[in-house]
Amino acid sequence: MRIGVPAETHPGETRVSATPATVAKLLGLGYDVLVESGAGRAANHSDAAFEAAGASIGARAQVWASDIVFGINSPTTEEIAMLRPGAIVICLLAPALKPDLVAALTERGVTAMAMDAVPRISRAQALDVLSSMANIAGYRAVLEAAHEFGSFFTGQVTAAGKVPPAKVFISGAGVAGLAAIGTAGSLGAMVRATDVRPEVAEQVESMGAEFVKPNVASQEVSSDGYAKEVGADYAAAAALMYAEQCAQVDIVVTTALIPGRPAPRLITKEMVAAMKPGSVIVDMAAGSGGNVEGSVADQLVVTDNGVKIIGYTDLAGRLPAQASQLFGTNLVNLMTLLTPGKDGQPVLHFDDVIVRGMTVCKDGTTMWPPPPVQVSAAPAAAGAGAAAAAAAAVAAKPEKVVNPNRKFWVIGIVAAAFLLLSTILPGAFLPHFTVFVLAVVIGYYVIGNVHHALHTPLMSVTNAISGIIVVGALLQVPSDNPAIKWVAFVAILLASINVFGGFTVTQRMLNMFRKA
Ligand code: NAI
Repeated sequence: MRIGVPAETHPGETRVSATPATVAKLLGLGYDVLVESGAGRAANHSDAAFEAAGASIGARAQVWASDIVFGINSPTTEEIAMLRPGAIVICLLAPALKPDLVAALTERGVTAMAMDAVPRISRAQALDVLSSMANIAGYRAVLEAAHEFGSFFTGQVTAAGKVPPAKVFISGAGVAGLAAIGTAGSLGAMVRATDVRPEVAEQVESMGAEFVKPNVASQEVSSDGYAKEVGADYAAAAALMYAEQCAQVDIVVTTALIPGRPAPRLITKEMVAAMKPGSVIVDMAAGSGGNVEGSVADQLVVTDNGVKIIGYTDLAGRLPAQASQLFGTNLVNLMTLLTPGKDGQPVLHFDDVIVRGMTVCKDGTTMWPPPPVQVSAAPAAAGAGAAAAAAAAVAAKPEKVVNPNRKFWVIGIVAAAFLLLSTILPGAFLPHFTVFVLAVVIGYYVIGNVHHALHTPLMSVTNAISGIIVVGALLQVPSDNPAIKWVAFVAILLASINVFGGFTVTQRMLNMFRKA
């Protein structure tokens, strides 16, 4: 089958949905790729580079008549008319906000898959364009702020005097917020961040920033990784905190988002008026209502007191080569999921929540909205309705009934088995066996209670234990008893897997930080 890669027509769009590197991967999945002439120009990918990667270059109408059509933005009416009935079109569609577009695609008889409707579950991370674009946008937001800010980010001690580091405050520590924290920190700024979800404090602090929070008794940890609307008490305390931070810092980046809701308004005109002249605010949510009063989508506004408010909505597109590469890779990952035979024939399994979740229409039938994803990380993408449906689905799930006496039964059976074994087993074996059983029980509870963030140091401890097991087992190998020999062999094998596996994983993690 042929995949078409058209040039984007959305005003100001610089990205392209495939790059020479991703074309090579699509060919590896058995597809032919046809790229519209000039499609990659703004992202620095020439037609010649696409051809060298194995793609063909064609005219617009030919590309839109392909079996599968990729894109960044949703197709226009004119582009929908060029799609072949039965074709598959894959791009950003915002189906919850564009019912007319969904109807037009359904009427055209195509299969439309929305890259912005990929469910946020672990298995779908490799396809999640919203995350890959927010990551780039968070980075770029800080660079835009640095460009408009009239001072250094990092502190300097020079012969002409001392320059203090810039103070940066970031609201919302999701994908974009964490990228902004990392970027501002690496430029040398003093970074503070806040989020309604208290559980992100650890991530913020692990990046070297300070976590600040409103002065309220406690804030609920989110059950699904997504923020909920805050109560009046929290909002009032948060307003005080925002006023305090705005008066102190030089740069503010706001990224607060509650899925399916308009952007929460966090910073008022009065707070902006209290900021120092020359301060810069980047409102990343300017395109969806804005976190900051006075921000305008796609504009740089300068207030009466000299504060610059940036409301650009194309931050990811301001790094077109990188954004195209990541978007294209997300599409390759989707095609890999859809092409198990690597034969250039996509197979759409609707029992797969990823495929079902992102399919908007198929063969003249509208499939939007999809049923809620029944996992803890299900996003409430379609607003209150979907949220209610998700809650109902969770409520409807039958609770596992646990017999309260089960624990005592298990302890009783284990104790009886132990007593029985102690009468059969030779005397010298019993103390070793007792230590082994206790080690299993204690190990189970100790490891089970170690926080996920500490699993890497835990791995080095288990490596040390495995080392002791290997030494002990090696000492048992010369035994005349074949059963002991076998147990020693199995112990060496399992412990070695743990040791070498641990080193391999550590090596892979270290490689991620190594400069190429
Ligand atoms: P995300 O869902 O990963 O993170 C949003 C964070 O905001 C969450 O951690 C959430 O807990 C937090 N939050 C929600 N309400 C809050 C409140 N009242 N106070 C403090 N924190 C609050 O979202 P992601 O992907 O990081 O996107 C962030 C924003 O950036 C979105 O509005 C998105 O539309 C926008 N965006 C803008 C781009 C641009 O070019 N301007 C490009 C990409 C994304």
